[in-house]
Amino acid sequence: MSGHATPVPMTARRGGPLSGTAEVPGDKSISHRALILGALSVGETRITGLLEGQDVLDTAKAMQAFGAGVERLGPGEWRVHGVGVGGFAEPDRVIDCGNSGTGVRLIMGAMATTPITATFTGDASLVKRPMGRVTEPLSLFGARAWGRQGGRLPMTVVGAAEPVPVRYALPVASAQVKSAVLLAGLNAPGETVVIEREPTRDHSERMLRGFGAALRIEETPEGRAIVLAGQPELVAQSVAVPRDPSSAAFPVCAALIVEGSDILVPGVSQNPTRNGLYTTLVEMGAAIDFLNPREEGGEPVADLRVRASALRGIEVPPERAASMIDEFPVLSAVAAFAEGTTVMRGVRELRVKESDRIDAMARGLEACGVRVEEAEDMLVVHGLGPGGVPGGATARTRLDHRIAMSFLVLGLAAQAPVGIDDGAPIATSFPSFEELMRGLGAGIARG
Ligand code: S3P
Repeated sequence: MSGHATPVPMTARRGGPLSGTAEVPGDKSISHRALILGALSVGETRITGLLEGQDVLDTAKAMQAFGAGVERLGPGEWRVHGVGVGGFAEPDRVIDCGNSGTGVRLIMGAMATTPITATFTGDASLVKRPMGRVTEPLSLFGARAWGRQGGRLPMTVVGAAEPVPVRYALPVASAQVKSAVLLAGLNAPGETVVIEREPTRDHSERMLRGFGAALRIEETPEGRAIVLAGQPELVAQSVAVPRDPSSAAFPVCAALIVEGSDILVPGVSQNPTRNGLYTTLVEMGAAIDFLNPREEGGEPVADLRVRASALRGIEVPPERAASMIDEFPVLSAVAAFAEGTTVMRGVRELRVKESDRIDAMARGLEACGVRVEEAEDMLVVHGLGPGGVPGGATARTRLDHRIAMSFLVLGLAAQAPVGIDDGAPIATSFPSFEELMRGLGAGIARG
């Protein structure tokens, strides 16, 4: 995605109850990792349920540029011919990761311990985001990186010819940084150790084990240490990607605030490193039933039945932030319909996502008549109760898919329609959003 696509204005308006079944697409985090680990393993990896959003398609293209065979067999069904750990070829063109921080950071890690050079870029959002958080630990392996001021893309990474293993304590709670270090550690001799004080999503650890890497977890005084034995032979796998809890958040939150709604969202990952939003919504009084809990593709999943609910504002425990980091935008939209105040602390990382999500939500909510307070690492939303949000404004989405979808959800229960200036970024993570929401009865339209 270049970020120069024609803007797609959209509007959401209040209507009847939402009903039916919402089959949300595959998990974005797991989809990126399946392609990358497939490319680093020996043999043919088969993936089903792959998210075919632009972010993941950009990663698929990047894996081809590094020499892997990547082929689409059917909807969500892909085949990857891996080149093995250390087998990446030097790409003969710039790697454009579009809008995807996960894509670029994980791929930088995956190539950093192979003696090749690659240049990375992205869209107008991605080139503003910090890459130093990844290139700093990668330099400990012996890789070198040159980018723009402040460690921004475009950036060239020269992989280490003789990588050394690394012990690295994460300075920020970031699964992207953790994963970049682990992927780099794959081609370093000896043990690479990443230590995290707060748990972040653990898909890389789960999947590395699934592909045959020796990985163990140790509790240390500094936090949870992930110890990876370098230079394993990764063996191709079949990966069934579960549905994305971050995408499911949009129909779930819409059903909670649109009066009389009752929907089913099947097969949603309930990985404890990802389900903070659901815990929070239940604490706010949401009627969500977690039906048929089971395991799919190595992840715990459940079918969610969601009914419209009277919600109350709460204080979200800051230690829960990492497990719902992508869900704060939609939570703040829902919080506008709660009775009382919702306080979100410890959310500084939201400032460096696809947009500054604290600022984007605060400005859009204010324009819709909702009172908010913000600080560097905090967002407070003063709820107006069911039906209490005036709406009647257009929010700027700033190339951020989750901001776009959050304001469309808000508009489904606001008194006056809510517009967004550009819905095109929704295709990065949830290409079927519009169709799926309309199928539930939501009044979402172009223009
Ligand atoms: C992701 C990690 C999170 C999240 C992003 C996906 C991942 O970012 O915001 O959407 O797949 O590892 P950080 O790890 O930087 O917090």
